[in-house]
Amino acid sequence: MLFLFITLVAALLAATLSAQEFPIARAGCKDRCGNVTIPFPFGLTEDCYYDAGFLISCNHTFSPPKAFLTASAINVTEITLEGKLHIEQFIAKDCYNASGQTDSNIPSLTLSKFIISDADNIFVSVGCDTIASLRGNLKEAASNENKYTVGCMSFCDSLKYVPNDTCSGIGCCQTSLAKGVDDFTIAIASLNNHSGILDFNPCSYAFIIEKKKFNFSRSYLRDLKNVGKLPVVIDWSIGKNSCAEVKKSSLYNACQGNSTCHDPDNGNGYLCRCLDGYRGNPYLSGGCLDIDECTDATVSHNCTHICTNSPGNYTCSCPKGYHGDGRKNGDGCIRRHRSLVIYIVVGKFVYHPLHFQSR
Ligand SMILES: *[C@@H]1O[C@H](CO)[C@@H](O)[C@H](O)[C@H]1NC(C)=O
Ligand SMILES: *[C@@H]1O[C@H](CO)[C@@H](O)[C@H](O)[C@H]1NC(C)=O
Ligand SMILES: *[C@@H]1O[C@H](CO)[C@@H](O)[C@H](O)[C@H]1NC(C)=O
Ligand SMILES: *[C@@H]1O[C@H](CO)[C@@H](O)[C@H](O)[C@H]1NC(C)=O
Ligand SMILES: *[C@@H]1O[C@H](CO)[C@@H](O)[C@H](O)[C@H]1NC(C)=O
Ligand SMILES: *[C@@H]1O[C@H](CO)[C@@H](O)[C@H](O)[C@H]1NC(C)=O
Ligand SMILES: *[C@@H]1O[C@H](CO)[C@@H](O)[C@H](O)[C@H]1NC(C)=O
Ligand SMILES: *[C@@H]1O[C@H](CO)[C@@H](O)[C@H](O)[C@H]1NC(C)=O
Ligand SMILES: *[C@@H]1O[C@H](CO)[C@@H](O)[C@H](O)[C@H]1NC(C)=O
Ligand SMILES: *[C@@H]1O[C@H](CO)[C@@H](O)[C@H](O)[C@H]1NC(C)=O
Repeated sequence: MLFLFITLVAALLAATLSAQEFPIARAGCKDRCGNVTIPFPFGLTEDCYYDAGFLISCNHTFSPPKAFLTASAINVTEITLEGKLHIEQFIAKDCYNASGQTDSNIPSLTLSKFIISDADNIFVSVGCDTIASLRGNLKEAASNENKYTVGCMSFCDSLKYVPNDTCSGIGCCQTSLAKGVDDFTIAIASLNNHSGILDFNPCSYAFIIEKKKFNFSRSYLRDLKNVGKLPVVIDWSIGKNSCAEVKKSSLYNACQGNSTCHDPDNGNGYLCRCLDGYRGNPYLSGGCLDIDECTDATVSHNCTHICTNSPGNYTCSCPKGYHGDGRKNGDGCIRRHRSLVIYIVVGKFVYHPLHFQSR
């Protein structure tokens, strides 16, 4: 029953969302590559992106076609207008058998324009004979001081005491990322070639992963061997200048009508956001559309009786014969005359006798 209700609500929500569609890409531009929606400032061709850093290459040799950031091998799975780019990134592995090392790879990622989200990702290593390091480059740092290294290590000799569901330091180690990293390389080493633990942990692994998609499981000590790539979140923004710098200079401001500029939490440049009461793509001219709060199923207007939409807002009112502000969390609507009559009647028969008795 509950499930049916949820399905119904979800269906209704989907219906109203598609009914109130807003433009995603520039006019005349494709807004999809396979499963990935491509909102402007990103685009698939020169006329369709903001600048070359926002090029998405759509490779049609895959089915469905796959989206890549610029001309790189960086696989894009989702782009949000809140300044996030979801990609897939290789996991580092260092594997052994009784004869020694069998397989090892050192993945790295270099972003030309954007940075790795410190808020959304963590650096993780998995293994029981594992020393892993992440060497990062800080994009905007003074030139000679822009590299840093952070590490994680874990040693254990039995699967028995590896907790199944938390990355506790036993068989799994995690640490946070610095702000402003646009380039990193991962390295892994082992002290004993995994000898004595080959049966349950033949490999060490290390990777950057989207925090909320990572749940450690004991089985990872063996099974991550079969995993190629994991999800990572990138922070994107427009240009190098902050909102204040753009405002006071003659620089082009990418934020269009009914939107405001805001500075990102990580890195420089700026992002645009539709004003309250508007929704859509703030980077497109006419891209932020008024939300009709009175009919939109995704917002709950707070009118008890009559709701009237206005640009960026809505007003509540009461029908004839009622007074009040018409708001759920305000006075609501109160009937004018009858309530007054009831008040007097109640006053006469309840209040007065009591008042009399108390004397
Ligand atoms: C594309 O989307 C469909 C439906 O949402 C899903 O079944 C499929 O797995 C997706 N394909 C890829 C490559 O993500
Ligand atoms: C598309 O992907 C295939 C397979 O990875 C590759 O050979 C080809 O060069 C790519 N095409 C473009 C236009 O990048
Ligand atoms: C890109 O990401 C998709 C979705 O997660 C994944 O299925 C696919 O294997 C990746 N493609 C490449 C070329 O890495
Ligand atoms: C270890 O792996 C190598 C390469 O995969 C293989 O040639 C060798 O026979 C393996 N040794 C053992 C003891 O399994
Ligand atoms: C690990 O294996 C390598 C060969 O792959 C060997 O040279 C080295 O001595 C081994 N180290 C230990 C501690 O077993
Ligand atoms: C560990 O957790 C995984 C996934 O949550 C579960 O499938 C598995 O059965 C658990 N294993 C043990 C030994 O508890
Ligand atoms: C991780 O575990 C939590 C709580 O057990 C669960 O809500 C969440 O869906 C899991 N996430 C993934 C990606 O498996
Ligand atoms: C802002 O939104 C209002 C109401 O939807 C609309 O009339 C107006 O044209 C928009 N302004 C711009 C510059 O897009
Ligand atoms: C309605 O009221 C709730 C609670 O006061 C508030 O969180 C919400 O933003 C209001 N909705 C609108 C559309 O103003
Ligand atoms: C909408 O109007 C109400 C009062 O009518 C006001 O309190 C509120 O701040 C307005 N919201 C916006 C986003 O302008």
